[in-house]
Amino acid sequence: MYKTWEELKDACKLCTKCGLCEDRTNVVFGIGVKDAEVMFIGEGPGENEDLQGEPFVGRAGKLLDKMLEAVDLSRDKNIYIANMVKCRPPKNRDPKPEETELCIDWLRNQVKLMRPKIIVCLGRIAAAKLIKADIKITKEHGVWFEKNGTLMMAMLHPAALLRDPRKKPEAFEDFLKLQEKINEVCRHTY
Ligand code: URA
Ligand code: SF4
Repeated sequence: MYKTWEELKDACKLCTKCGLCEDRTNVVFGIGVKDAEVMFIGEGPGENEDLQGEPFVGRAGKLLDKMLEAVDLSRDKNIYIANMVKCRPPKNRDPKPEETELCIDWLRNQVKLMRPKIIVCLGRIAAAKLIKADIKITKEHGVWFEKNGTLMMAMLHPAALLRDPRKKPEAFEDFLKLQEKINEVCRHTY
């Protein structure tokens, strides 16, 4: 456990704990406001993220930013965004359970330092690991769970919305639920 954000970030940038370190251009540690009350967690970096060293900067990221903006959230202003694994899996395959297991200490340390009130899991991989193993994302997105005093919700992954735009309205409803909850439990997000 690192006690400061900078120490944690510096150590993470040098990580070689799993095989994903071999082909990476950048470790994608995370981006946003360090005292955020709301944290979003995706799956892992894709090609653009690997090249730029920042999460969600490709097409899915642009869609995410648009939906965030509609509820007055942004990585520049009031949230933090990270991923389950911090290095890009080859050809954008799903991270393997052993890679996630090795990487998750970095994320846990981020959560411990940030102490967000709300964690939003983007997609099944993050939701299954952080909320519950057998989560059915199609049915249980938008549902609130509470774990160790932190409110958690799964959302459909923005990449899934690009594949099937018909799901956008139900995905957007989850952002409205999030907005409502932020108004209820957060102090300085809005
Ligand atoms: N998809 C993710 O899950 N994370 C990113 O950072 C980019 C795309
Ligand atoms: Fe380390 Fe995580 Fe990168 Fe693997 S994916 S090398 S555990 S930072």
